[in-house]
Amino acid sequence: MSNLEFLFNPAHIAVVGASRSTQKIGYAVLDNIIKSSFKGNIYPINPNEEEIAGLKTYCSVLDVKAPIDVAVISVPAKHAAKVAEECGQAGVKGLIVITAGFKEVGKEGLKQEQELRSICKRYGMRMLGPNCVGLMDTHSPVNASFAEGFPNRGNISFISQSGAMLVSILDWSFEMGMGFSRFISTGNKADLTEIDLIESCADDPQTSVILCYVEDITDGERFVRVCSEASKKKPIIILKSGTSSAGAQAASSHTGALAGSNRAYDAAFRQSGVLRAESMNDLFDMARAFATQPLPGNSRTAIVTNAGGPAIVATDAVEKYGLKMARFTKETIDKLREHLPSEANLYNPVDILGDARDDRYRFALETVIEDENVDNALVLLCPAAVTEPEKTARTIVELNNKHNHKPVMAVYMGGKTLTEGRSYLTTNSIPAFTFPEPSVNSLRGMLQYAQYLKAPDPSEPVELTGIDKKAVRKILDDVFADRRVVLLGHEASDVMSAYGIQVSKTYLAESEDEAAEIGEKLGFPVALKISSPRIAHKTDVGGVAIGLHSDKEVKKAYRKIIENVHYYLPDAPIYGIEVQDMVEEGIEVIVGMSRDVQFGPLVVFGLGGIYVNLLEDVSFRLASGLTTREEVKKMISETRAYTLLKGYRGKKPADIEALSETILRTSRLVSDFREITEMDINPVRVHYKGATALDVKITVEEVNEKG
Ligand code: ACO
Repeated sequence: MSNLEFLFNPAHIAVVGASRSTQKIGYAVLDNIIKSSFKGNIYPINPNEEEIAGLKTYCSVLDVKAPIDVAVISVPAKHAAKVAEECGQAGVKGLIVITAGFKEVGKEGLKQEQELRSICKRYGMRMLGPNCVGLMDTHSPVNASFAEGFPNRGNISFISQSGAMLVSILDWSFEMGMGFSRFISTGNKADLTEIDLIESCADDPQTSVILCYVEDITDGERFVRVCSEASKKKPIIILKSGTSSAGAQAASSHTGALAGSNRAYDAAFRQSGVLRAESMNDLFDMARAFATQPLPGNSRTAIVTNAGGPAIVATDAVEKYGLKMARFTKETIDKLREHLPSEANLYNPVDILGDARDDRYRFALETVIEDENVDNALVLLCPAAVTEPEKTARTIVELNNKHNHKPVMAVYMGGKTLTEGRSYLTTNSIPAFTFPEPSVNSLRGMLQYAQYLKAPDPSEPVELTGIDKKAVRKILDDVFADRRVVLLGHEASDVMSAYGIQVSKTYLAESEDEAAEIGEKLGFPVALKISSPRIAHKTDVGGVAIGLHSDKEVKKAYRKIIENVHYYLPDAPIYGIEVQDMVEEGIEVIVGMSRDVQFGPLVVFGLGGIYVNLLEDVSFRLASGLTTREEVKKMISETRAYTLLKGYRGKKPADIEALSETILRTSRLVSDFREITEMDINPVRVHYKGATALDVKITVEEVNEKG
């Protein structure tokens, strides 16, 4: 049982700031609790009243002298800390702070919010909010909020960072006939966050789907850990707003949220089995499907329709969302042929024609559902004069109950004439849509979740040998001592070598003679590159020479590079010139990392070279989830670069194993050293045998040990 049970199923509640005035929030909260048929004692707290709504009223929670699980606080912000302190003294377990005027209004508000939090910590109280609407649980039941109305009882929990979103969805849900188990407004999340609430809803026996609207997630690591467990119990569907840069700014100004990068969210959701909704519609479409239908065994979809056009749209959607059109068995086709009119289309989509009445729907739907090659079914209905939308709705419900292991969705395309049919479907647990695409998209979400549940547990993290952490530590210390934030080429190359990543050998020469000597040792041909912390784009200042075949050529190139750099950037400090071996040909890919504020190191893989930004043929993973060879291979296979690597147009395949090793080791490196803030290995050249890091850029930042 969740440790937040006392919040959703409190024995007794106090309402601090309860009021007689019907215009006040303190009245609405009290009224809601009473109307929700809450079973425990309700203690209104108001120093100026003796009785409100027929209930004895107290000056302070300290006067109640009886156990209180939850206190809902609805007094102005300036009184909130005092009230919280009294609640702590009275042994209250949890606060729901409706009051606004905290972190969202600036520095002073933030200070007051921190004070509230530290009071809660001191007394071991948990706090929802501040700046929230409150919470509702339809099963316990309790409505500790100032929302208008109480949701219909159901099995969906909705957690929302936006109070406005919560009350709007509540209002809309009545029209939609949707039922909920819990409605929770997180507000400023000073203590309880969506992570705690997801964890609690995952353990709630009355909840079977968890929906969440978030603007930011502040503890990315815990989110991934908790959701990875919770999503094995229940589907979690999240709409994360603030994904565009304009949206991110709006999110910041809305609740002071710091929006994390979109790609990191994608990677984190995927890693933890969370489904990401693209819109509000998407969120609730999927919720309806999950809340009412079984998970599909696979992706083979059958469509039964009375109209051609909508069936084509639905078929397109099936392909677009990665599902498959089912191929019926011969028995199914024969049976359909025997009983349907000769003009009907017997192959998927099954077109039972515009004059189809309920009996034809019944026969065709049952026949395809019974086919072993069908995993789920979609019923399309358009209103014609002879159509029987309501009767057909009853048939769909009946068949879905009879064959309850395969999901069925209905698309009733039309308006007024179909309203009743749609409503019957909805109230009888068939997701009913007006257009085909959302129904197929919901199936896609269900299939994605079903596959997540079926996937074998990730194997143990790979044991990587030949890693010299001390060597990297020394290089980083030297870089910090030199007051730099970017590693020089030979330093980056040494970091790679220390982590067992094959890298083009790079040595620093401080004179032309030394450069020639190194060239001799490496074996010609070699390349020379200027080494200066001030020069990022070496080619632009004539700082690179490649394909040098002798010591004579090396010395000449050395002099020329120094001359060029002096000419273009006379003030740039020169540490010397790097001598690098020339690496054999291969497919050029990029392996990189950027550190996300919320989720930590995010590793990128994709097609490399100068096309990276143009083509954006990339895939992402959080380094924390990139510890097995299978996951690295999946990551590689999501890109078009994979097609090249496998051997495109008769070319020999490249060494994907070696590339995987490079990605795995890079992932370990950036996990081991928080000082590495950004990293680009562009390109990694993947040969027929082996893979070599060619150009490595590492950016670092000193880490405060306590940080
Ligand atoms: N203990 C007990 N009762 C108290 C105390 C106290 N320490 N101090 C005041 N009260 C009483 C008051 O006397 C009053 O009762 P009365 O009507 O009998 O006089 C009652 O508590 C409320 O106090 P008021 O000063 O009248 O405050 P008011 O009700 O106007 O506002 C509120 C309080 C609602 C908390 C306000 O400060 C606030 O924050 N409003 C915004 C709430 C909000 O939007 N939250 C975010 C939701 S998310 C979204 O946007 C949808």
